[in-house]
Amino acid sequence: MSLVNKAMVDTTVVILAAGLGTRMRSKRAKVLHRAGGLTLVEHVVAAAAAVAPLDRIIAVTGHQAEEVEAALAPLGMSFVRQVGQKGTGHALAACRERLQNEDGLLMVLYGDTPLLSPVTLQKLRDLQSASGAAATLITTTLENPSGYGRVIINDKGDVTAIVEDKVATPQQKAIQVINSGIYCFQAPLLWKHIVELRPNPVSGELYLTDMCEILTKHGYRVGALHIADPDELLGINTRVELADADRVLRERKCRELMLEGVTIERPETVTIDMHVRVGVETVVEPFARLLGSTEIGEECRIGAGAILESAVLADRVVVAPYTMVANSRIETGAQVGPFARLRMDAQVGADARIGNFVELKKTKLGKGAKSQHLAYLGDSEIGAGANIGAGTITCNYDGHNKHRTKIGERAFIGSNSTLVAPVEIGQDSYVGAGSVITDDVPAEALALGRGRQVVKPGWVKKKAAK
Ligand code: UD1
Ligand code: CA
Repeated sequence: MSLVNKAMVDTTVVILAAGLGTRMRSKRAKVLHRAGGLTLVEHVVAAAAAVAPLDRIIAVTGHQAEEVEAALAPLGMSFVRQVGQKGTGHALAACRERLQNEDGLLMVLYGDTPLLSPVTLQKLRDLQSASGAAATLITTTLENPSGYGRVIINDKGDVTAIVEDKVATPQQKAIQVINSGIYCFQAPLLWKHIVELRPNPVSGELYLTDMCEILTKHGYRVGALHIADPDELLGINTRVELADADRVLRERKCRELMLEGVTIERPETVTIDMHVRVGVETVVEPFARLLGSTEIGEECRIGAGAILESAVLADRVVVAPYTMVANSRIETGAQVGPFARLRMDAQVGADARIGNFVELKKTKLGKGAKSQHLAYLGDSEIGAGANIGAGTITCNYDGHNKHRTKIGERAFIGSNSTLVAPVEIGQDSYVGAGSVITDDVPAEALALGRGRQVVKPGWVKKKAAK
């Protein structure tokens, strides 16, 4: 086994995610708020996965435990419940029974620090392994340290105590070195001494931060890994900080994509979720939003203000401005929009064209088919090369049930046609403009379903004479 693997196996990570997050002023548990398209705690788990296998990552849950566990369970980790939220020390102590016989390292992270990088956690683990200290914690220097625990460091550079903001004296408040809330302990020492935590006299909570003083009193060393760039240590306590974190995550994602060969115009206006993939030479215009599991091929263009959610685009697709695509697929060379809406498993074939104010729902549009203006195509299958005129409506709903419309290859549907489903238009056939079609049309036929035009010459003069 290589050294790196050994380190992986020997590290257990506990993520504290049981608090309500009072300062968010939210009904939802803080760690379930989203930044960069993922919940805060999902970001922490992603970073933790760099130092421990998922079956050695444990989240401590409490407030809205079921929802938090539901969000994380698909990742393959496990959970310990904290009964009553009596502070960060109390939260970690909830894991004692389960973990107290483990050797190796115990890393503790808070579920509200979504900007953490995997590399930083690896550095912390490596420093702790090499130092022989009882614990190492990550510190940084903040111009405005208010809200954070202040770190007291002795002349040897070791941490002797952490003083929480709430209880700090004015002199202590002036300290700008803060506790990031990221710790790596020698597990046996932590489990042996965690029982010595006592409720804070001011808040009544058990503070995990008091472990520094406890370990120091027993003659152990607590080291610090000082990080120069405080950005990644941001703890989210309010919605203002949530927006800050979101901005940083979006910037990181855009940067990553640009370095991979995607052009992003005015990246500061573009919103791209963490799991989105974009191929090289694709251009993303300002104010586009690429969300969820969206996958975009190469040489595509995503227009200004377009919103793509869990959309799949092959190569050379154009999504013109202000188009919405949700849970739908667009094949190579197709063009969609501006102002189009594709939803619920719409499938647009290669080289097809969808124009302005066209809505597709559960509809498959064949290769090279066109619907260029003002149409609703729902629960339909439209053959390759068909042309759907402006204003065509599939009447798919009878008030109780949805019905399907089938349009054959190369069929021509005249403008302003109303297709009352269930109905089938055969291939190569024509539907006259303005028709209401209630019966199937065979292949190669012309169907007209409208009143014949009547022209009364001289009618105006006759009317005037009356
Ligand atoms: C904590 C640290 C502080 C540090 C800061 C960094 C303590 C006492 N203070 O303060 O030194 O500078 O983080 O961001 O640890 N949680 C539980 N159960 C509880 C209480 C909290 O699971 O009973 C979880 C929360 O869900 C959260 C994390 O612990 O994810 C941190 O709690 P929070 O209340 O945000 O701590 P801070 O006041 O920010
Ligand atoms: Ca916090």
